[in-house]
Amino acid sequence: MSRPDLREEVRAHYARAASLLADHTDQPELSRRDSACCGPATGTAASCCGGGLETDATFGAGLYSAVEQGQLPVAAVAASLGCGNPMLVAELREGETVLDLGSGGGIDVLLSARRVGERGFVYGVDMTEEMLALARANAATAGAENVEFVRGVIEDLPLPDAAVDVVISNCVINLSPDKPAVLSEVYRVLRPGGRVGISDVVAEDRLSPAERAERGSYTGCVAGALSRREYLDSLAAAGFVDAEVRFTHAAGDGIHGALIRAVKPGG
Ligand SMILES: C[S@@+](CC[C@H](N)C(=O)[O-])C[C@H]1O[C@@H](n2cnc3c(N)ncnc32)[C@H](O)[C@@H]1O
Repeated sequence: MSRPDLREEVRAHYARAASLLADHTDQPELSRRDSACCGPATGTAASCCGGGLETDATFGAGLYSAVEQGQLPVAAVAASLGCGNPMLVAELREGETVLDLGSGGGIDVLLSARRVGERGFVYGVDMTEEMLALARANAATAGAENVEFVRGVIEDLPLPDAAVDVVISNCVINLSPDKPAVLSEVYRVLRPGGRVGISDVVAEDRLSPAERAERGSYTGCVAGALSRREYLDSLAAAGFVDAEVRFTHAAGDGIHGALIRAVKPGG
């Protein structure tokens, strides 16, 4: 499949997930089951990503603490389609400017907005209109004023050079058909000394791309996962230093949720 076709397949998949989430804000568990997104293959027919997305310790809202969940509207928590918690590596400070790649229903933008405070600001970029609408509704419910959700692709970010202090993301880079472009865009929009603190699905180095594809679909965040070595090499090729990829929990045979950090030199 060509890169534009693959990205369109991902967009359509998450548009469906967002519509289901928006239709069932009063029944979050129902919407989460039906909109299943990231996860290893289990053969569940209803799943749009090859696996059921339940609130557990592998994917979704279960990866956030009770305190974090309690800080947000129920619908924003229910809309979590991630595979980790980037707050654990981002180490956000008051007054910082943050960018969330593939912000989905907005959970990490809203948590970041609380951490950076009114002197800080958080952008969420997503290519899926339905997700942006869901995120804007969740931000309005949360009363967050230091946030903006912008339509765009992470391979060509709609932000100027050196615009942000921190780039976060949750379970999105694996979905990109052009990961070198994403990392070079992340490098461009970060200020010198800025940092990356993200979560993503990452494969063990022993798994070939074909073996990753056997374990889960592309839209389900498994087939497109980089291996740990590939992630580190790609970050270095984009110019980042002090990179680390740490597996946090198993998400399948040789497939893991991982926290990734790196720094743009200078500053
Ligand atoms: C697995 S969901 C994660 C959403 C959110 N980060 C979370 O944790 O709930 C992936 C999100 O990334 C967006 N996305 C995927 N590929 C993208 C791309 N190439 N450019 C922009 N957004 C993308 C999708 O529209 C979707 O909202």
